[in-house]
Amino acid sequence: MSIIEQAAARIAQLKKVGVDIGLTEAPEQVLAPPPVPQSQPDPAAARAPASDPVVDEAPSASVAALPDPDVSSRRVELDLKRLDEMRIVTPRSPRSQIAEEFRMIKRPILANARGKGASPVENGNLIMVTSSVPGEGKSFNSINLAMSIAMELDNTVLLVDADVARPSVLNLLGLPPAKGLMDVLLDKTVTLSDVLLRTNIEKLTLLPAGMPHKNATELLASRSMKNLLVEIAHRYPDRIIVFDSPPLMVTTEAPVLAQSMGQLVLVVEAGRTTQTMVKQALAKVASCPVKMLVLNKARYARSDGYYGYYGYGYGYSGAVRGDAGEKAA
Ligand SMILES: Nc1ncnc2c1ncn2[C@@H]1O[C@H](COP(=O)(O)OP(=O)(O)O)[C@@H](O)[C@H]1O
Ligand SMILES: [Mg+2]
Repeated sequence: MSIIEQAAARIAQLKKVGVDIGLTEAPEQVLAPPPVPQSQPDPAAARAPASDPVVDEAPSASVAALPDPDVSSRRVELDLKRLDEMRIVTPRSPRSQIAEEFRMIKRPILANARGKGASPVENGNLIMVTSSVPGEGKSFNSINLAMSIAMELDNTVLLVDADVARPSVLNLLGLPPAKGLMDVLLDKTVTLSDVLLRTNIEKLTLLPAGMPHKNATELLASRSMKNLLVEIAHRYPDRIIVFDSPPLMVTTEAPVLAQSMGQLVLVVEAGRTTQTMVKQALAKVASCPVKMLVLNKARYARSDGYYGYYGYGYGYSGAVRGDAGEKAA
């Protein structure tokens, strides 16, 4: 079955078990990892030869050889076993179900970031992960996307916690609070290198949200933030930058932030977010050149008649230009 056929089958499957996927017509471009019941062996594991490397792609000499500009930044240790247990992609389990799912999701994103998509995407390396309302899975998806991309040989990733009103990246990763984005925006003496956190995943660097501030969300729409984005984009042209961002329907700043982004991933919580909410959220980010939708927390029926796992179920890309709102929602 082709990916599109798999996706169509998946949509039918989700509808059958009562999941409102919020689509009135098939999306233009569909990416759907085939459902893999947990009780069965992972088919990808069977496919993969024993010597299959952890990384996903052959290195590109020019990029892989680039010196790390953040060598002076502090280094933190991620507990990969703990993250594995939380269903977060790590190099310990490159063939896990979640790793396979994010492999499907990151492909079009990376193609756009590298300028290998259907047409060039300006600022394609700036990727905003957002949702309509809080709690839909932005942080879970941001971390997994960043981890998954960091496992590629020729990509370095900066994961920015830009959901400054409800930061959770450090907490989810098991790390204590640290200085970050807010501190750089508010204090001229704090530089980016001062607050970046390198990790034991060599290609993954973190930019925490930083100290709480009453006008935190407003600062995202500030000139200082725009300047910082320009600095990040220029300083790390080969780096993929994933922003865990505030939800679109709750603040006016999130749509402003989206204006600087090349790609946007809208996380949609299955069975909770309505089609109207998705349409309204997409209407707020009409200027972003590439928009993708990820249906999160979908349940589906297993072949043994029981409902499958609760978690990441299905992803598709509504990666069409300008009018993704109408086409995808
Ligand atoms: N696909 C998933 N599988 C399992 N747990 C998930 C999934 N997506 C989100 N969660 C959990 O749901 C909660 C809300 O997700 P989170 O990413 O923090 O939402 P948001 O950042 O949008 O507010 C968290 O406890 C998170 O770990
Ligand atoms: Mg969050």
